[in-house]
Amino acid sequence: MARIPEDTIHAIRDRVDIVDVVGRVVGLKKAGRNWKGLCPFHDEKTPSFNVSPDRGTYHCFGCGEGGNVFGFVMQHEGLTFPEAVRSLASDVGIEVPESGGSDGQAGFAEQIFKANRVAQDLYRRLLLAEEGAPARAYLVERGLDRGISEHHGIGFAPDRWDTVVTALQHAGIDAEVGEKAGLIKKRESSGHFDMLRGRITFPIQDPRGRILGFGGRAISPDQEPKYLNSPESPVFHKRQAFYGFPMALEPIRKRDRVVVIEGYFDAIALARAGVGEGVATCGTALTEEHARNLRRRTRHVVLLFDGDDAGQRAMLRGLEVLLPHDLRVSAVALPSGQDPDDLLRSEGPEALAARIDTAAPALDVAIRRAIDGGVSTPWERADAVAAVVPLLTLVPDAVERSEFGRRLAMATGVQPTDVEAAIRKARAGEDPTEAIASRPRQRGPEHRHYESALQALIAHPALAEEAGDFVELAPEPALAAVAAAVVTGVPASELLDRLEGEPRQLLSQLAARETRGLEDPEVARRAFVDTLAKVRGIAAERERKALTQALHEDPSLLDRKNTELLNKRQRIPAV
Ligand code: UTP
Ligand code: MN
Repeated sequence: MARIPEDTIHAIRDRVDIVDVVGRVVGLKKAGRNWKGLCPFHDEKTPSFNVSPDRGTYHCFGCGEGGNVFGFVMQHEGLTFPEAVRSLASDVGIEVPESGGSDGQAGFAEQIFKANRVAQDLYRRLLLAEEGAPARAYLVERGLDRGISEHHGIGFAPDRWDTVVTALQHAGIDAEVGEKAGLIKKRESSGHFDMLRGRITFPIQDPRGRILGFGGRAISPDQEPKYLNSPESPVFHKRQAFYGFPMALEPIRKRDRVVVIEGYFDAIALARAGVGEGVATCGTALTEEHARNLRRRTRHVVLLFDGDDAGQRAMLRGLEVLLPHDLRVSAVALPSGQDPDDLLRSEGPEALAARIDTAAPALDVAIRRAIDGGVSTPWERADAVAAVVPLLTLVPDAVERSEFGRRLAMATGVQPTDVEAAIRKARAGEDPTEAIASRPRQRGPEHRHYESALQALIAHPALAEEAGDFVELAPEPALAAVAAAVVTGVPASELLDRLEGEPRQLLSQLAARETRGLEDPEVARRAFVDTLAKVRGIAAERERKALTQALHEDPSLLDRKNTELLNKRQRIPAV
């Protein structure tokens, strides 16, 4: 394992401005000494995400995520610790020595990206080569000229067994990396063979343009399956990936909306119709991860779906996934049996773009579908309401929810108050997850004082000299773990690399809190000593009571119980 020297890590942490790094992806506003913004790790409407430049830490009071600048980059970009360190190092111009060649898991993602890049360059070259002629003919037949194909990075994997195998060898990339990337497969005998053969290739990229995997379209009708996609890999997660993402970023920002479709050719068809904000799922249904991935960029999602029954049901499933993320979803029903690519051919680019621009709210589409079977009898009305209410309960915004409730009432002829009651009842039966996430930790005065003392200590590590029995006094194990780490005098931003789980969350939370008045070391010292005295008092009182109670219940056990109770102080977990 190649380790990055501690000194280098220190130097990078000192040089990097956490507000700057976080500010690239989160809109931050100054709030006191800290900065605030919308958390990039969960959906929220009011900012509970905090960055403390003094401590070099971030923390979200909504979802509990937190850490230092490396943790942020790791989490946000899905990198390992060494990868995050290297990425930030290059930002601030610090050289990280490449000690020792292969360093296990650390560089693996990078190696896969490199292998995919080699394959991409090869596929593109081969599309233009002589043997690419059938593929070029296929693309022309589908209406894609050379410019469009190039813009979308389309390539060609010829019908041979070792095109990519050989190219990876020449590039000095281990076959194992090519396998993990899903580019090649092991033969039963020996050696490897190419996964994609005789197919048009679509590169699937992350928002930064790194290639995660490929989609391969058969060019002859007797090839099965029609599409062959790269498997999941350490970098390719279909549950969150979109085809066409990097090209769509700017249009998404400009138009403040995203259009989600299912096929590679459909994404290209939209771009040809001037709808650059189209992205396609990669052979999976929409997931929560997709929803979060979109929500970070816009609130407005347009779904295009086949107007047949299966298409409508798929649209409703997508709606269920998107609504809880506070996304505003519109929907376009296409003529039965047609996808956007077909429509571009049959009706032309303006018609396709116009359908998207006039998309109706998806909840209206759901209401219309629900009343399709008629609403003349009380039973039909009740059924229609019951079909839409579960969707309405997913709408986080109370005004939007009740507005759509009113529309449902109008469409079905049911009293608005009855629809509202149905929504309220359905919501009450559900687990209000949001309320749970934002509920403050159960804390008594002992916890509060202890946390204040810890805060003073975090602000002034030198106070550790006065700590005494501080760690043993912790009212719960997670606090004891944090205390044990902090009394070592190591700064909080650094400790975040060493702690895990609850203690880690707790530390980032404490480090993020406002420390009004604690800047002055003397004030902090007094606060530390005073709160500690209070904790000691409360702890002593608690023990005295417990002891009395125990003795009262069983006086015969006086000696044993007594010692047990006095020893029952918190164990101190090692850092
Ligand atoms: P469709 O069958 O609707 O194909 O699948 P399409 O996009 O219209 O393709 P063309 O126009 O015939 O070329 C939609 C999407 O489902 C995935 C692909 O991502 C495809 O774009 N799919 C489809 C597969 O992964 N495998 C398949 O065999 C078929
Ligand atoms: Mn199609």
